[in-house]
Amino acid sequence: MNKVVLAYSGGLDTSVAVAWLKEQYGAQVVTLTVDLGGGSIREGVERRAMSAGASKAYVVDARETFVSQYVWRALQAGAVYQGAYPLATALARPLLAQLLVEVAQKEGADAVAHGCTGKGNDQVRFDVAVHALDPGLEVIAPMRVGMGLTRDQEIDYANQRGIEIPITKASPYSIDVNLWGRSCETGVLEDPWVTPPADAYEWTVAPADALDPVDIVIGFEGGIPVSIDGERLESVELVQRLHDLGGRHGVGRIDHIEDRLVGIKSREVYEAPAAVILHTAHHALEGLVLSKEQLRFNHLVGNEMAQLIYDGLWFSALSRDLRTYVMSSQRVVSGDVRIRLDHGQAIVAGRRSPLSLYDKSLATYDEGDAFDHASAVGFIEIFGLPLRVEAARHGAVGKHHGAAWTWTDPLLAELPATVTEQEPVAG
Ligand code: ARG
Repeated sequence: MNKVVLAYSGGLDTSVAVAWLKEQYGAQVVTLTVDLGGGSIREGVERRAMSAGASKAYVVDARETFVSQYVWRALQAGAVYQGAYPLATALARPLLAQLLVEVAQKEGADAVAHGCTGKGNDQVRFDVAVHALDPGLEVIAPMRVGMGLTRDQEIDYANQRGIEIPITKASPYSIDVNLWGRSCETGVLEDPWVTPPADAYEWTVAPADALDPVDIVIGFEGGIPVSIDGERLESVELVQRLHDLGGRHGVGRIDHIEDRLVGIKSREVYEAPAAVILHTAHHALEGLVLSKEQLRFNHLVGNEMAQLIYDGLWFSALSRDLRTYVMSSQRVVSGDVRIRLDHGQAIVAGRRSPLSLYDKSLATYDEGDAFDHASAVGFIEIFGLPLRVEAARHGAVGKHHGAAWTWTDPLLAELPATVTEQEPVAG
């Protein structure tokens, strides 16, 4: 092996990985650090990479690409994993993989490397995405193939080699951040019954401590947010503003038992103020401008997209095809949504659009009603026809061929009469 490009956060694990890769493979190590916002980039990261023995250190600001090519696609699709997780970490992986591959090709490297463990989703996402973009590249995950050191061992390892290590104190959690969200896991959070302690949160105040409620108006064009309270903003700035504002109102805390790709249930605490506000607003606007059939189908597509993103399949053919559908469905998703930020909640308070399908003269119960009530009779006659045929041929519900007949669900018999306290599984 000649050269490896390592996804480098500047933390202890990846700093040690630089030296470890050099020693283990006798290869040059080029590091790549990507700024995805949300404080994802640490101070002095280039210097630290070089002190760990990197032959070159790339630092790339990819915030704009991240938002416009990944985050907006997920927002337009309404992609939220298991109805809870707005996918901040998951969305960043294909972009990081893409940048790793770009640098690897430019540098003529034979491999890329990342600091993921062998137990999470991120390793899968990296490996799969890198190979979708360049099947010829090897992917090395030092943590998965023998670099397994404890934190203290890593500190010794670094000290012995004069590697500058970050002076931050060890966090009780494993954390990943970018401007779409903050993911926090492990430590006391591993007990799903434990209330997340205050120190699990960094971006949001406790809802009880939030400022007085405030209304904001978010403007959308083609399913993409473009303004706040009438002020047009660039995508990164817009997300940043909602992040700050939402955080001050305690909006965006998510406590989720999540199904990992590798078959484990895990407990994650997320903070995603901008994502929660924007998904809420986008969904409200879609309700105004899309047909009920589009809404029904978009819901399926959004769930499928969420699964694909979560599973690291951003570059799959299906994912591309669905993104094309979503783009098309968003052509009329333009208008304003007023959101009230109120002690941890983002509540839809109003919506309007020049492309609205809402027609007051059809909806009203007051004067000016244009709906033809008499036509409803004929509509129901035809709409209810199949049920009347069923009742005539198979017997009305509750009656069977004329005899009185009560239907009981046979599965009910299999349920335990009382739920008993469960013993923990050994091991
Ligand atoms: N469970 C989330 C996901 O798979 C977040 C993982 C983030 N990593 C972390 N160290 N907290 O997308």
